[in-house]
Amino acid sequence: MIPDHDLERQMRHALALAARGRGSVEPNPMVGAVVLDLTGSVVGEGWHQRFWGPHAEVFALEAAGGAARGGTLVVTLEPCCHHGKTPPCTDAVLRSGVRRVVAATADPFPRVAGGGLAILREAGVEVDVGLCEADARRLNAPYLKLLRTGRPWVHAKWAMTLDGRIATRTHDSRWVSGEESRRRVHELRGRLDAVLVGRGTVEHDDPLLTARPPGPRVPARVVVSASGNLPDRCQLRATARDVPVIVYTAAGDERKLTGWAADGAEVVALPPGDTGVSLDAVFADLGRRRFTNVLVEGGAGLLGSVLDAGAADEFHVFVAPKLVGGVGAVPPVGGAGVAAMADALHLAEFTAEPSGDDVYLHGFAPGA
Ligand SMILES: NC(=O)c1ccc[n+]([C@@H]2O[C@H](COP(=O)([O-])OP(=O)(O)OC[C@H]3O[C@@H](n4cnc5c(N)ncnc54)[C@H](OP(=O)(O)O)[C@@H]3O)[C@@H](O)[C@H]2O)c1
Repeated sequence: MIPDHDLERQMRHALALAARGRGSVEPNPMVGAVVLDLTGSVVGEGWHQRFWGPHAEVFALEAAGGAARGGTLVVTLEPCCHHGKTPPCTDAVLRSGVRRVVAATADPFPRVAGGGLAILREAGVEVDVGLCEADARRLNAPYLKLLRTGRPWVHAKWAMTLDGRIATRTHDSRWVSGEESRRRVHELRGRLDAVLVGRGTVEHDDPLLTARPPGPRVPARVVVSASGNLPDRCQLRATARDVPVIVYTAAGDERKLTGWAADGAEVVALPPGDTGVSLDAVFADLGRRRFTNVLVEGGAGLLGSVLDAGAADEFHVFVAPKLVGGVGAVPPVGGAGVAAMADALHLAEFTAEPSGDDVYLHGFAPGA
């Protein structure tokens, strides 16, 4: 019998293995697996490495070979039981001869949803679920949200001065944060499905919004502009054939964007919301594309609407040791805001760490 604390240590290791797939496996979940032999020694490990690729259990059981017989499979997610892009993992688990499966969490994916665990139990394998479940759910929160709501996980990011401004009163914002913080933002972009900005940011900053250097995935660049009054000449439009650009605009105004469409941008007309394009319609469309993680980079108008709508799940904020002053300088979050401090959004799992000369603050919306 393997002691509980050993199993927990191995599950934490499996979760760390799973996280190696971040940015490469979505819209699949990140999964890690460890195989222990009869004595509790690790004889195989693996993780889901890329979308379309083999699942974690397959790598781990192959590595273990005959040593898996009578042993234990520690896995961060319920093994699948359907023919998807790969054969069912439950077949591989049963073939391996493991006696016990310890899973962190069940998989709510409709074609699995407890079916994998049931097949194993019926075949006489001892199955335990729930070890390190909170960590496993945190790791795959974006996957779980997309399954549950059809909407991607929304990251909100901004870089601000010590006096809480993302640009000066003349809208100058190059650069607020230092090199290390900008490197981190590029790293973040390179593992997400889309980077969103409002029209104001395109107008004032003319950003490229690519990940440089590239990461495991190429995020689509998304502009939200109800009016459709976007500049004719800008980097996004000029590069729309190289890296996807999607423009969400109000139904009726898409004719203003025929030039953008001719240059390769995808123009999508959506119904209006309270403050421009309906953000729920934007996120629903991104979810239909099976985008799992999207990043809202600003500016104040768009971030304000996202926060007013309670649509942000995770926050990345860089604070630079600079002061610009001026009541007209741009704050990070516009929108209506709340009237009472008691109603302020209070981030969970909030952490702060140095990022070059800046400070990187990270946290989650409550309940996210
Ligand atoms: N330091 C940083 O991290 C950072 C990052 C990004 C931007 N910035 C700065 O932020 C400033 C731009 O901010 P901003 O507030 O002027 O512009 P913004 O937030 O980039 O864009 C706002 C515009 O987005 C469009 N929009 C469409 N639907 C919307 C909705 N539901 N909610 C809100 N907006 C919607 C509207 O344009 P239409 O009128 O076309 O509908 C609106 O005017 C710039 O000075 C830039 O330098 C700083």
